[in-house]
Amino acid sequence: MASSGFSAKQVILLVAVAASLLAVTQAATVVVGGSENWRYGYNYTEWAANNAPFYFEDTLVFKYEQTPAHSVYLLPNLWSYWTCDFSKAKLLANPTQGQGDGYKFVLNQWRVFYFASAEGNDCKDGLMKLIIVPWPRY
Ligand SMILES: *[C@@H]1O[C@H](CO)[C@@H](O)[C@H](O)[C@H]1NC(C)=O
Repeated sequence: MASSGFSAKQVILLVAVAASLLAVTQAATVVVGGSENWRYGYNYTEWAANNAPFYFEDTLVFKYEQTPAHSVYLLPNLWSYWTCDFSKAKLLANPTQGQGDGYKFVLNQWRVFYFASAEGNDCKDGLMKLIIVPWPRY
């Protein structure tokens, strides 16, 4: 009689592969800017490039002091990102929301995320903007 289904060896291999995939699947929590946090003058474009990829369901944490004021906005498109035009931007975190554990944002949409601070010259001169594209886990 021909045997059907998986052999014990195959089952063990499958479980091992599944376990390793699960380990990789754990969503990460990442502080934007690392130890620099969210501040004027740090190059977040470079930081994002050095820390990519970011994955779907990962959490970004924006930590910042109350003075000088910073904020976190979601911009609608690349053009508004380039020009630092906040007229159609969505406020995510105001200047008081970056203290303590910081403001947490989960990458739970399949879209390009354009983040920027709208305070003072943060966006135009302070480099406080970054683009994140979440990747699928596998
Ligand atoms: C920030 O980093 C990006 C990527 O490395 C680079 O292209 C850009 O010139 C930098 N901006 C400044 C003002 O240094």
